[in-house]
Amino acid sequence: MSKVKTLGQFIIEKQNDFPYAKGELSRLLRDIGIAAKIVNREVNKAGLADILGDASDSGETNIQGEIQKKLDVFANEQFIAALSVGGEVCAIASEENEEMIVVDNAQSKNAKYVVAMDPLDGSSNIDVNVSVGTIFSIYRRLSLSGPGNIEDFLQRGTDQVAAGYIIYGSSTMLVYTTGKGVNGFTLDPSIGEFCLSHPNMKTPSSAKTYSINEGNYVHFPDGVKKYIKYCQEEDLASKRPYSSRYIGSAVADVHRNLITGGIYIYPVTAASPNGKLRLLYECNPMSFIIEQAGGKATDGERRIMDLEIKTLHQRTSFFAGSADMVDKACDFMKKYSTAEKVK
Ligand code: AHG
Ligand code: MN
Ligand code: MN
Repeated sequence: MSKVKTLGQFIIEKQNDFPYAKGELSRLLRDIGIAAKIVNREVNKAGLADILGDASDSGETNIQGEIQKKLDVFANEQFIAALSVGGEVCAIASEENEEMIVVDNAQSKNAKYVVAMDPLDGSSNIDVNVSVGTIFSIYRRLSLSGPGNIEDFLQRGTDQVAAGYIIYGSSTMLVYTTGKGVNGFTLDPSIGEFCLSHPNMKTPSSAKTYSINEGNYVHFPDGVKKYIKYCQEEDLASKRPYSSRYIGSAVADVHRNLITGGIYIYPVTAASPNGKLRLLYECNPMSFIIEQAGGKATDGERRIMDLEIKTLHQRTSFFAGSADMVDKACDFMKKYSTAEKVK
């Protein structure tokens, strides 16, 4: 008998960590795992099926004004469908939908949770066979019953019950936390199951990889410019210069840095004066995972998960990864960017 532990087995085992758990969160995580496998199937054969390219010839954009790819739309539909029939969520917020999606069917009558998600992260990499991902964040609803409402989503990152991401890469992995450490599961295509491959993931406290879109350098806050120069300086004692690695799919960049150590930065820029990444369904869930793995996540000044959230698609600057590196970058921000205060 093999010693493989599937995601399903692991989730049920961990349910005992929550004394009053009735299995809803376990079922919700299982539903996410199922949708992930369906999206994975399409991502894997994307070049063969008619699923590459923009969703519409007219360059249809989502609420963020970004071109929607066919796979953005497909992944969004799959996750919404899986979460809706699963019966554990009363509302869903997605990068691809301006308003929250109310789930109001027989199954969801007593649903306790809401899910915020980026169904497909790294859209610009879809057509060129580079890793993309899905990010999800789970909150307990604040409303007492009936369909979910917007307040259910406008909770701080510290209120997350669980969060995770799926990376569709050279292998497909699902990484999640419920606040008791981080565990990673690799999809074994031969049995169609996510299997525990990275138990209790921890990120190194210091490292030598920095990940940032340096093409935007001229628009970076002075603190970020100085930090980049610091990363590039020669200093044998601190093993500088560091390596630069930037994929352009936040899930993939964060995943690599989680494993090998490193810092990911998406600061404010001229094109994105409030930062590019979204607090609710990109930064908060990734911050929960990074912190649970021993790392840090800030907006250059404040802890991401403490930030007040006012709108579903609110953006923030993002400095995340190995604790010592994030501290160092924040020191530079404090020293050189006070005049242009991080928003
Ligand atoms: P999404 O595809 O969900 O819109 O997210 C794209 C994000 C993130 O994944 C990535 O790190 C970042 O945009 C890349 O932006 P740049 O191309 O500006 O570097
Ligand atoms: Mn994204
Ligand atoms: Mn996306």
